[in-house]
Amino acid sequence: IKSYPIKELLSNVPILHEVVVNGWVKTFRSNRFIALNDGSTINNIQCVVDFEQFDEELLKQIATGAALKISGTLVESQGKGQNVEIQVKDIFVHGSADPETYPIQPKKHSLEFLREKAHLRVRTNTFAAVMRVRSALSFAVHQYFRDNGFYYVHTPIITGSDAEGAGEMFRVSTLDPKNPPVTEEGNVDYKEDFFGKETNLTVSGQLEAETYAMGLGKVYTFGPTFRAENSNTSRHLAEFWMIEPEVAFNDLDANMDLAEDFIKNVINYILDNCKEDLEFLEKRLLDEEKSKPQIERSEMALLEKLRFVSENNFKRVSYTEAIDILRNCKPNKKKKFKYSIDEWGADLQSEHERFLVEKHFKCPVILFDYPAKIKAFYMRLNEDGNTVRAMDILFPGIGEIVGGSQREERLDVLKEKIETLGIDEKELWWYLDLRKFGTAVHSGFGLGFERLVLFATGMGNIRDVIPFPRTPQNAEF
Ligand code: 4AD
Ligand code: MG
Repeated sequence: IKSYPIKELLSNVPILHEVVVNGWVKTFRSNRFIALNDGSTINNIQCVVDFEQFDEELLKQIATGAALKISGTLVESQGKGQNVEIQVKDIFVHGSADPETYPIQPKKHSLEFLREKAHLRVRTNTFAAVMRVRSALSFAVHQYFRDNGFYYVHTPIITGSDAEGAGEMFRVSTLDPKNPPVTEEGNVDYKEDFFGKETNLTVSGQLEAETYAMGLGKVYTFGPTFRAENSNTSRHLAEFWMIEPEVAFNDLDANMDLAEDFIKNVINYILDNCKEDLEFLEKRLLDEEKSKPQIERSEMALLEKLRFVSENNFKRVSYTEAIDILRNCKPNKKKKFKYSIDEWGADLQSEHERFLVEKHFKCPVILFDYPAKIKAFYMRLNEDGNTVRAMDILFPGIGEIVGGSQREERLDVLKEKIETLGIDEKELWWYLDLRKFGTAVHSGFGLGFERLVLFATGMGNIRDVIPFPRTPQNAEF
């Protein structure tokens, strides 16, 4: 007898077939109805037990969380809520779950509670749906790039460079922290370290991706990145996944086109392929919002929001135009932002970004041509000498989802920038080589994968869209 995923049993197997199914018990009602789930779909299969036919000791082991193998006949369901059910003939208990101690009971658990149970939370409908959507999105990422002639490049995780120049790095060292070798000046002697120099976990694969773009043309990385920033927000993780395409001969406009097309494409992919999970998540969100005051509720339901983004153009606005809007706007009744934005050159806070997206333009926004001073060293300087060819994409409910730029391809300009920032040229000799040998206009961007999953699932906290969140509070695993 064949064993089937529940997804297939519910849609694709003829009535009166003898079937086997493995899964975990969601509920066991009246000693008669087992709702079983195996992760293949949000829906459970109902297994109907004639308890008089089974040993009492065996039935006692069937509780929420237990893993079972069930054999029986697929029949049309008598009850409502499902078309088919299994008339159970045989039950094998792979492993029981003690109701006294198993934390995931059939009731609504708070997301905070479940965060403490990161190893078990995927057994809830919400987390299973989120993680299936996450998996589908990562598949869509690879498919998009493959369909568009990109090569997938694996950039190093352990690296000597600080791509963002922000100094928020996790150090990697084999030296004994209590007793490291020291130089004559008394500093830690990293020459003695495994790599013979100071190394850290990568904050971005961009610089290495650039080297490959300048040979393969169109490349992307999709890997884990690390930031030792102690920002306890619902949008930041210490370990997150980033998608970074890099394209030779693309200028900033082409870069914006790519980013917009890419995002729309992967959203369309889940709209086509994750309907059940998205509908479940939409309903979950609506239930949650019922307890909020009217003004805090979102104007669009989840699926509508996803369709809106995939069908409408993103608004492209220069930093300078955005500052003008922010200076003259009335964000709310008090007409004030927490941080007022009076000066050209200031970095936007998330309240400003969200105002532009959610209140002013009411659609995703691409901000470009930022002041050079607030952006990384590698961005291409504009003719005005003050702004760089940077772009950030801002999303409703999320804020910044993409950061990218056209890269500085001129050796002299890049060298000068590195020097004024006090970066050691010797550290970046290979990066400068790209500008010495066959340099060309090129551009790329980084999309924070978890921020995309947040948007796609309507979840509110980034800790709930990655299997094992790494934040200052969550380092259990
Ligand atoms: O804006 P960022 O820092 O840009 C870069 O790293 C560039 N080197 C990318 C490139 O051009 N190839 O980061 C890119 C994106 C952000 O827009 C955000 O979505 C995400 O990465 N991100 C984070 N996501 C979660 N937690 C954090 N701590 C994040 N920091 C950045
Ligand atoms: Mg950024």
